[in-house]
Amino acid sequence: MPTKRTSIIAGNWKMNSGINEGIQRCQEIVKLLPETNAEVIICPPFPHLYPLSEVLKNTPVMLGAQTVHKKASGAYTGDVGAFMVVEAGAEWVIIGHSERRQYYGETGADIREKILLAQDNGLTVIFCVGERIEERESNVYLDVITRQINEVLDPSINFDKLVIAYEPVWSIGTGKTASPEQANEVHMHIRQCIYNINGGKTGENIRVIYGGSMKPDNAAELLAQTDIDGGLIGGASLNAADFCQIVSHAG
Ligand code: 13P
Repeated sequence: MPTKRTSIIAGNWKMNSGINEGIQRCQEIVKLLPETNAEVIICPPFPHLYPLSEVLKNTPVMLGAQTVHKKASGAYTGDVGAFMVVEAGAEWVIIGHSERRQYYGETGADIREKILLAQDNGLTVIFCVGERIEERESNVYLDVITRQINEVLDPSINFDKLVIAYEPVWSIGTGKTASPEQANEVHMHIRQCIYNINGGKTGENIRVIYGGSMKPDNAAELLAQTDIDGGLIGGASLNAADFCQIVSHAG
């Protein structure tokens, strides 16, 4: 019997929406949320974590941050530390999103430090990997994923507090979703990479979720794949009804 992994549907709101809109959307999500075994997470901008934690108190919806700084605290003007997002109500954090890699030059070494620190603070990490279009077209995408994983993870990582998000860069915000077969191929490869690093049942147990133009009309097909354990949703997570519809497809 294959392991039954609990699905995850996480909404990455990125730098969108004011606080009133965010509160309203959370209230609507709670109202529309279908009966589900999936873990449901909202990742709003930093200043909205605390007020939204009040809205989501005593509901099944959890909160996550979109990144944290790699150092615990100190003279890092404008940055936010892992303990702060925990204080503000986050239980999860996205680390290594391709937008952070692209616009802030985050490297594998940075991402590794962030993951270790986030986990030390009790956060569960959604670690993002994904190839660019030219890497897919030149057929080196599996090598790229292997490198992104191997430069960050080793057995010192707490794999019980780690989820991997496969987000092909060419599918983010473009409306071009990876086909279910394309995504599943990479998810299976990720599982193998994790097995190679930590052995045992880690490869089988780790949850690998897909991100990149996941919408209500393509979610069912993606989530039905053997190795896709959920979704990291950008654009469609800004609409409560769409987001909840995606949740309804997660087992
Ligand atoms: P879209 O769903 O808007 O393509 O964004 C995906 C993403 O980057 C989630 O982190």
